[in-house]
Amino acid sequence: MKMKRIPIVMDCDPGTDDALAMLMVHGAENIDLRAITTVAGNLNRETTAQNALNIAEYFDIPVPVAKGSYPIMKKFEALDTSIMGAGGLGNAVLPKAQREFSPYNSIELLHQEIQKAPGEIVILATGPLTNVALLLSVYLEDRELIKEIVIMGGAVYHGNHTPRTEFNIYTDAEAAKIVFQSGIPIKMIGTDVTYRTSVTKSDLDSLLAGGKRISRFIGDLMFYPGSEQHPFPEEGIYIWDGLAAAALICPECMEWKHVFVDVETRGLLTYGETVADMNNYLKQPPNVHIAFRCNKDIFIGIIRKTIEKIN
Ligand code: RIB
Ligand code: CA
Repeated sequence: MKMKRIPIVMDCDPGTDDALAMLMVHGAENIDLRAITTVAGNLNRETTAQNALNIAEYFDIPVPVAKGSYPIMKKFEALDTSIMGAGGLGNAVLPKAQREFSPYNSIELLHQEIQKAPGEIVILATGPLTNVALLLSVYLEDRELIKEIVIMGGAVYHGNHTPRTEFNIYTDAEAAKIVFQSGIPIKMIGTDVTYRTSVTKSDLDSLLAGGKRISRFIGDLMFYPGSEQHPFPEEGIYIWDGLAAAALICPECMEWKHVFVDVETRGLLTYGETVADMNNYLKQPPNVHIAFRCNKDIFIGIIRKTIEKIN
């Protein structure tokens, strides 16, 4: 029997881990990647968009790629270039794509794809939630038509950008608040699961042993921390967006908790925190499934399948 594939749009800010996540969903047999929309986050909107277009062309991902937005209210601050390199793809250098960007911006393209698959479409968001929030503000009717939003973002117990915030949410907390309050089912793959699921050098050596073109690309993405600037971390690296892609491809690989979450947008020290009511003090209906653990073997297995499938 033919497997029913999940129609998705990936909203992202490539970004080394976004790049791997793109390949994972492109290669997954149960995912129907329909479009890639990009947003400012790791880098400015032009660079994230060009990276996405270059990746789509280089790996023959036959979907439109659109340019997106900058944060709605907060001043834009790109990620420190020491983390993903000045171009955002670590040591990977791709030819500039020949194909054009979509004539539509990210919000328009998201809207079009939602209209084509009402009630079925899933958004995989691996960058700041600016585009998704603007979509939900401009095309109010889409709120009823999006099946789920799978987000790489947020932190319940410890952050990766300020003490208790994660970068994507911190970059545009007002946007995140709109999305978390939208009533659309949300899966949140945040630092609570990413910190527990690091990928070591030996994991990568074994995954990339095949010497295929895609293996060299992923190696250039992921071994950037191994360049002379800074040694490959003993504890391994965190492939944040790859875990979000894995959660979409195989939700059973994660352990979830369904709780009420809202986003702080006013605190001096707490701006961008995803405040999760783990003990139901606020008596609000749960709106987010938060991933707290991941079966690492399944995660690594999905990456292995991606490498097997894509040249
Ligand atoms: O905090 C991790 C997130 O920030 C990932 O999406 C990574 O790509 C960066 O954007
Ligand atoms: Ca990202």
